[in-house]
Amino acid sequence: MRVYLFAQAGLDDSRRVLEVGCGTGAVLADLPHHLTVHGLDLNLARLSQARSHTPAARLTCGDACCLPYPSAAFDITFCHYLLLWVSEPVRVLQEMKRVTRPGGSVLALAEPDYSARQDAPAALEPLGQMQNESLRRQGADISLGGRLADLFLRAGIKPIECGALAPAPFEPPAPEEQEMEWAVLQADLADSLSSAEFQTYRSLDAQAWRDGTRRLYVPTFFAWGRV
Ligand SMILES: C[S@@+](CC[C@H](N)C(=O)[O-])C[C@H]1O[C@@H](n2cnc3c(N)ncnc32)[C@H](O)[C@@H]1O
Repeated sequence: MRVYLFAQAGLDDSRRVLEVGCGTGAVLADLPHHLTVHGLDLNLARLSQARSHTPAARLTCGDACCLPYPSAAFDITFCHYLLLWVSEPVRVLQEMKRVTRPGGSVLALAEPDYSARQDAPAALEPLGQMQNESLRRQGADISLGGRLADLFLRAGIKPIECGALAPAPFEPPAPEEQEMEWAVLQADLADSLSSAEFQTYRSLDAQAWRDGTRRLYVPTFFAWGRV
């Protein structure tokens, strides 16, 4: 989906691209080499990881609410799994619009709506609810994804294409991916679950994958607009 949206947004003919909230640079590192790539993040430690992932990128420590770039500086400005974490998403989108040249594109990618999460079997639903609570405590707006098109309109960006990713095939994640997800979950839920309760959920999950009854879908939205 990301490849498709970047192609629609005119990546091949672009020269300057900015990711707002680039974190450790996982998405920046995927961009083609003909581009001058900029990344901005509030978190200096993550930016220093981004430095090793994307040595050629121009990285800046700053706030998405007040982007330190002149107007119309970029052909494409995008964010990925950012807006749910900011207190003023419309202001961030307005800033993204300001720094994008007329005719350029603004993209918001990977914005989930955890409130519409679907879990099966039912015995695993409380785990999802606890995870949502934990995300709220960490400051996330867990339902932002479902309001993405409206946020674009409020920021004065006409959305051209908006939608949600289709559910992935219901296959167990790769073992290393599963390990990583459970490690994050355990850290997030350390205050809500004892280690024994946590292990019970983990066994239920493993059993459900073996039985073919496991379902997990978090609708995850994207929006693309032109300036
Ligand atoms: C969940 S991470 C996503 C990182 C990256 N986009 C990715 O998908 O791998 C969100 C990032 O947004 C950054 N962030 C949050 N609020 C911000 C703000 N107001 N200005 C700039 N960066 C911000 C965080 O420091 C974090 O690195």
